[in-house]
Amino acid sequence: MPLLEVQDLHVTLQTQRGPAEAVRGIGFTLERGETLGIVGESGCGKSITVQSLMGLLPSTAKVSGSIRFDGTELVGRDEKAMCQIRGNRIGMIFQEPMTALNPVHTIARQVGEPLRLHRGLSGAQARKEVLALLDRVGIPDAASRLDAYPHQFSGGQRQRIGIAMALACGPDLLIADEPTTALDVTIQKQILELIQGLVAERGMALILISHDLGVIAQSVSKMLVMYGGSVVESGPTETVFAERAHPYTQGLFAARPALGAPRGIRLATIRGSVPELVDLPPGCPFAGRCKYTVDACHAIRPPPTILRHEHAVRCIRLEEIAAEGALAA
Ligand SMILES: Nc1ncnc2c1ncn2[C@@H]1O[C@H](COP(=O)(O)OP(=O)(O)O)[C@@H](O)[C@H]1O
Ligand code: SF4
Ligand SMILES: [Mg+2]
Repeated sequence: MPLLEVQDLHVTLQTQRGPAEAVRGIGFTLERGETLGIVGESGCGKSITVQSLMGLLPSTAKVSGSIRFDGTELVGRDEKAMCQIRGNRIGMIFQEPMTALNPVHTIARQVGEPLRLHRGLSGAQARKEVLALLDRVGIPDAASRLDAYPHQFSGGQRQRIGIAMALACGPDLLIADEPTTALDVTIQKQILELIQGLVAERGMALILISHDLGVIAQSVSKMLVMYGGSVVESGPTETVFAERAHPYTQGLFAARPALGAPRGIRLATIRGSVPELVDLPPGCPFAGRCKYTVDACHAIRPPPTILRHEHAVRCIRLEEIAAEGALAA
């Protein structure tokens, strides 16, 4: 049984212009210890996807489909049940560390909270464990800083503390949503290496969201390329990087900063912009922005075509595009 099995997941959000489907039938599986990356421009549904796994969606959101975590269905579970899983079996690292940290509580108290809550540790036991965690994530002289508040740490240190919190109960799955985007370039690499080290050492599964293809290449064994709430291409990271079969994936690679450019630069934009959710076309979400668009692209949402090695691509013109690529090469 896979650790996580997501099938035909749909998430509808209430927006000012009415209900809009932010996630449109996505699916993937994750084995224990396996690492998955999600890449795509801002607004394509990456965060909403992982928030649905954590039960962190806005209360007005409607979710359908299936999310099976270690054999248990999560869709439709109440907040109390999700609370048992969140921070215990699934840990999450946020883009902005202050999302996880409460400014008015000491570090010892908040990193220790999941240990007291989920593992029933006493105050003194939790404090000891917190110290070990803070040491492991690289907070210098952690023993003397247990009673400090979040604002007394730098941004990079706050993210380290956020990581310690996510790890506290020894989760089976770690979710990191753009964990280095808010940090200085010099700190980004250290935080990424810390996450990679912890995932390997503890045998956790990882879902890493990043708009930085370099980060994806380094960190995960398989990946999803998302656009307009759909997975347009998925497969082993090496295969997706080598094949780049979907026009949107090709656009992401073309927009990538040149090799040797400083890391962490945002993707240069692909021609046009991500459509508003409520305006998403009924057919291929990329139709209109894609240079290969033909009338048929507007008619139906392309079904996945499975290429070699679990490599799936949602585009109806793969043969023509591959032929054109071969001619241009
Ligand atoms: N709370 C919300 N209410 C309404 N729309 C939202 C909400 N959160 C996100 N959205 C919309 O859902 C879409 C997907 O958002 P998100 O998953 O955050 O994108 P990503 O993480 O890929 O940048 C975007 O169009 C965004 O504007
Ligand atoms: S289905 Fe059509 S619009 Fe969509 S990516 Fe393929 S060629 Fe482009
Ligand atoms: Mg996001």
